[in-house]
Amino acid sequence: MDSLQRSNASTPVETESPPFVDTPATESSLLFDNLDELLQRLPSESHHILVTGGLGFIGSHTTLELLKANYNVIVIDNLSNAFVEVLDRIRTLAQKFHDDNGTKMPSLRLHQHDYRDTSSLRPLLEDYRLPSRWGVPKSKIAGVIHFAAYKAVEESIRHPLKYYANNVSGLIDFATTLGDFGIKTFIFSSSATVYGTLATSGLPLKEELCVHKTEEYTDDAGMKQVAQPGSTGITNPYGRTKWICETILADLAASDPEWTIVALRYFNPVGCDPSGLLGEDPRQAPTNLLPVVVKVLTGEYSELQMFGSDWDTVDGTAVRDFIHVTDLARGHIAALSTANEGKLAENFRTFNLGTGSGNSVLDVVSTMEDVSSKPIPRKEADRRPGDVGYCVAVADRSREELQWKTEKSLKNACEDICNFLHVSGLTTVKSS
Ligand code: WQD
Repeated sequence: MDSLQRSNASTPVETESPPFVDTPATESSLLFDNLDELLQRLPSESHHILVTGGLGFIGSHTTLELLKANYNVIVIDNLSNAFVEVLDRIRTLAQKFHDDNGTKMPSLRLHQHDYRDTSSLRPLLEDYRLPSRWGVPKSKIAGVIHFAAYKAVEESIRHPLKYYANNVSGLIDFATTLGDFGIKTFIFSSSATVYGTLATSGLPLKEELCVHKTEEYTDDAGMKQVAQPGSTGITNPYGRTKWICETILADLAASDPEWTIVALRYFNPVGCDPSGLLGEDPRQAPTNLLPVVVKVLTGEYSELQMFGSDWDTVDGTAVRDFIHVTDLARGHIAALSTANEGKLAENFRTFNLGTGSGNSVLDVVSTMEDVSSKPIPRKEADRRPGDVGYCVAVADRSREELQWKTEKSLKNACEDICNFLHVSGLTTVKSS
């Protein structure tokens, strides 16, 4: 078990001797004239990816998939909504993967601090600086995946300034610092909530419904359309922070072509790694449907409140696009490699990460009951402030431009959750 070092200087938790002992930044010379190009062409396994919030639910699954894809991973996490034990579980799973495949395990380091703590962030980025020409900063960090943000819709309504400070102001300072170090490949954890009430407009929920500059596109009827920048009917501060961050990043990309930025619009991430070691286990009381259902399954909660049974849907309960978190994590790998290979259509691009099909709250309850062979007590309740009745992705752009699509089902997600509960001893539930 790594001894976690807590310090403002964010001492890394080493898992192996550093791959390089950097020479001090040297001025360019004939001898080193093409050094940075040579270093940039090192195979991807020498590339490092910085992941903020890398021990969280989605972050931990993505960190695992990055390690499997031979990336070295640097995690920044302040553990406000995650447990440090997750680090070892990720390492165990990644090591087993590489042992089984006869491949080398990349490095995994945790820096325990808030991503907004620049006094810790700058020394960390300095450690990965590469020698560069003409003073143009270069880094061994080939990309950043930014998960660290507050995400509870209902809480954002009660504490908007907390959400704007962490999610928006934090992003501005973070991107500024990354730019100072020449780290300009950025994958942003966005959300389907940026579509606001358009989600229930009946229009196919395509990325063109929420753009940050005037865009021409062809609709399903083959008609040329022009999308105007803006947002429509975002129903809560959390969703607005995501939309504002996308806007900021779109403007940054427009101002500097060296930036390559992808905003991934998650629908509803559910499930967990089939090993049962990385289940959704938030420190804070959950508000999302599946973690609440889990609390009912384990007996911690007596029943599930179903918010709204009068939505204009198949059974009156809300419909969502529930995407297995492992599929979601692999969407990040696809986005990162597409960005690093220079294959993005533009240097700011948004992608829906969803299955393209919807399930209702009642579907989820009955699937979980079938899989667990346990009843889930529930009762109908009033709609929750900020909710919409229907939100399902059109995932064509991700399939066509990232060569990525989901492979797992809601049933798989429920089975993997039951396995997590069984492995962690939280209940006698074993998926049937
Ligand atoms: C789903 C449906 C609820 C809990 C959120 C946020 C954001 C995003 C995805 C990343 C809704 C209903 C829920 C409960 C219920 N994550 N529900 N009883 O609100 O669609 O989106 O998650 O961007 O976190 O936007 O997800 O899981 O909270 O709710 O009836 O106890 O389940 O009303 O209809 P949501 P959710």
